[in-house]
Amino acid sequence: MKKILIIHGPNLNLLGTRETNIYGRITLESINKILEDEAVNLGVEISTFQSNHEGEIVQKIQDAKKDGFCAFVINPAAYTHTSVAIRDAIAAVNVPTIEVHLSNIYSREDFRKISLISPVAMGVISGFGQDSYLFGLRAAAGIAKKI
Ligand code: DQA
Repeated sequence: MKKILIIHGPNLNLLGTRETNIYGRITLESINKILEDEAVNLGVEISTFQSNHEGEIVQKIQDAKKDGFCAFVINPAAYTHTSVAIRDAIAAVNVPTIEVHLSNIYSREDFRKISLISPVAMGVISGFGQDSYLFGLRAAAGIAKKI
C-alpha cells in the first residue's frame, strides 16, 4: 500500500484552543482521525507527525524515502514563511508535496502571503479549515497511485 506522510508544523499541536476565531475548535487529534478514516477509503496508508522544531521536520523529510513515503501533505505553519531549510529538504528528496493551510494565507497579514514552500510543492490548498487537509490527502493519494 502507498504510504503518505502528513507533517504538521509548529503550534498546530495547540489547535482547539489556539486563535479559534481563525483556526476553529477542531483539535489536531481530530484532524488526524479524519485523515486516518479517509486514508482507509482511499486505500492508502498514512503516518502523521507534528513538530515545533524546524530541524526535526527537515530530518523527517530527509528520511522519507528510507521510510517508504511516496508523497507528503505538509502544513508548515509559521515555517511556511521563513524556512529555506524545509523548502530545500523537499526539493532535495524530490517527493511530491501538497502544501495545506487551514486559513487562507492570502487574505491575512502581508507576511503570510509569501510561502517559501509553494515553489517546491505540486500544489497548495489554503482556506478550507480541516477540509484543506482532506483535499490535500485526496490529491496526494491520487499522485501516489500514479507513481
Ligand atoms: C497556517 C497559516 C500560517 O501563517 C500560520 O503561521 C500557522 C497556520 C494555517 O494552517 O492556516 O501556524 O499554516
